[in-house]
Amino acid sequence: MTRTPVAVLASGTGTNLRALIEDSAAPDCPYRIAVVGSDRANAGALAIATESGIPTTVVPRRAHPDRESFDRAMLAALAPYAPDWLCLAGYMRLVTPAFLAAYPNRVLNIHPALLPAFRGLHAQRQAFEAGVKIAGCTVHLVSEETDAGPIVAQAAVQVLADDDAESLRLRILDAEHELYPRVVRWAAQGRIRLHGGRVAIAP
Ligand code: GRF
Repeated sequence: MTRTPVAVLASGTGTNLRALIEDSAAPDCPYRIAVVGSDRANAGALAIATESGIPTTVVPRRAHPDRESFDRAMLAALAPYAPDWLCLAGYMRLVTPAFLAAYPNRVLNIHPALLPAFRGLHAQRQAFEAGVKIAGCTVHLVSEETDAGPIVAQAAVQVLADDDAESLRLRILDAEHELYPRVVRWAAQGRIRLHGGRVAIAP
């Protein structure tokens, strides 16, 4: 089976990357992680990739005066691995139109809230502080507006009476680790279709 090459971009701990790596080890998995890119040389995600024998590439923020030249450098660093999809997983950069133009409707992101509620940073804390009783996570196609692209899939978790922001964050993270691999499989199978700004998953 030829597996679809994907790139994962991460700036932080890398637990979603780990979930994707574990999923990609399954014999029936339709994708493989061809490269992991980061803007932070000390990202935990890079160590996780290296442990698994996955190539990594780092483009330091400071090396580029503006976001567009940074994005062009990241695209150039990923290009030798020829990924079909880019999967943002805790990637703490806002991407530019130049970046999206290189992968039209082929950039996924995971966000730790049920969008369109609680966009932006610390979404789990925002949800906790709002007192919602159902929280969750969203995988969406990345568009120019932050956390506003077409929704591909969501998973809900309950907010429990004795939760604090941290326990809720961890419960959402567990849901992320289930959801993201499922969606990346759909992406690799060519099942994510966009019609009139909405995503449908082809059977
Ligand atoms: C996740 O909560 C993800 O939803 C958000 O950043 C966090 C990354 O966590 N975009 P990890 O690095 O995958 O552990």
